[in-house]
Amino acid sequence: RAAGDTIKVGILAEMSGTFADFGQQITNGARAYMKQHGDTVAGKKIELIIKDTTGPAPDVAKRLAQELVVKDEVDFIAGFGLTPNALAVASIATEAKKPTIVMNAATSVITAKSPYIVRTSFTLAQVTQPMAQWAYQSGVRKVYTVVADYGPGHDAEGTFKKTFTALGGQVVGEARVPLKNPEFSPFVQKVKDARPEAVFVFVPAGELAVGFMKAYRERELAKAGIKLLSTGDVTEDGVIDALGDNAIGVISTHQYSMAHESPENKAFLAAYAQVAPQQRPNFMAVGGYDGMAAVYEVVRKLGGKVDGDQAMGVLKGLKIASPRGPIQIDADTRDIVQNVYVREIKKVGGKLYNVEFDHFPAVKDPGK
Ligand code: DHB
Repeated sequence: RAAGDTIKVGILAEMSGTFADFGQQITNGARAYMKQHGDTVAGKKIELIIKDTTGPAPDVAKRLAQELVVKDEVDFIAGFGLTPNALAVASIATEAKKPTIVMNAATSVITAKSPYIVRTSFTLAQVTQPMAQWAYQSGVRKVYTVVADYGPGHDAEGTFKKTFTALGGQVVGEARVPLKNPEFSPFVQKVKDARPEAVFVFVPAGELAVGFMKAYRERELAKAGIKLLSTGDVTEDGVIDALGDNAIGVISTHQYSMAHESPENKAFLAAYAQVAPQQRPNFMAVGGYDGMAAVYEVVRKLGGKVDGDQAMGVLKGLKIASPRGPIQIDADTRDIVQNVYVREIKKVGGKLYNVEFDHFPAVKDPGK
């Protein structure tokens, strides 16, 4: 095949190190979309070029993005589990006029950093605002917040406080834990000593979520009557088995659960099982899957000739029937509009799931 017959999608993701699960989920989600829909669109073969950012490493992400543009001559840049890696690439997206699809990183400000960035994941502000509202509606008045000490954690902390206090609730304490190798026990003990009615938590998916849950159990917060409210990052499907039965009853808000009932989710789960039979897909896999749906739509609408500005024209306002429910790329902010679900961890058929029981429809990013 001649080069002109191929559309190249460069994926920058965390494929090794502590955050390697992020890259696995994102790339397997992208592959699942291709498995389900074939790898040819408008006569062009779609090719993924995957590069490993190795962790939160902005310098590496920037160098690899340059390589994708200059050497590989990609048509799209995509991926990004972690916020610092997405932020590092914004200036390159602008200079090269490359449509750049953020498939996970969830700090509000990312899409404001380049007119060539769109997001198919979520923002922490978007899932936290409904949690603060739900908590207040459920009678909770005193909350302690615990967040990872970087962009998305700061957004979660600020959004929770603003929403909850505006309603009449009180934030009785705020803790920030480091992104790298956090020791949760002392933070969790402080929460316990403050005697709030609930603790609200955001830490990134994976190992940090397991670490927090372990400290929550060991310090016996549930026994002390302190409810756990979290964003779905803490209870996500990729990690839920590792949390164990201790996690039953935890309430979270997020955009995707494996247990979501829809034909689109059924098809997604079937395709994902073909690509990665050993792994439960989480919200990052869905971000990757929907990101590829966006790529396919651009290539289809532009008849296989991808120009950066024309691609952005297709992406702005784009609607997708996602496995999580209907989503839309807001034409003004290029950020995602979607339902946010309230879920409770339950055992269904012997396995743990985030079972959706309420939802806030078509939530925009309140951080804009
Ligand atoms: C980010 C990373 C996560 O693992 C997550 O669950 C949410 C957000 C981020 O870096 O933006």
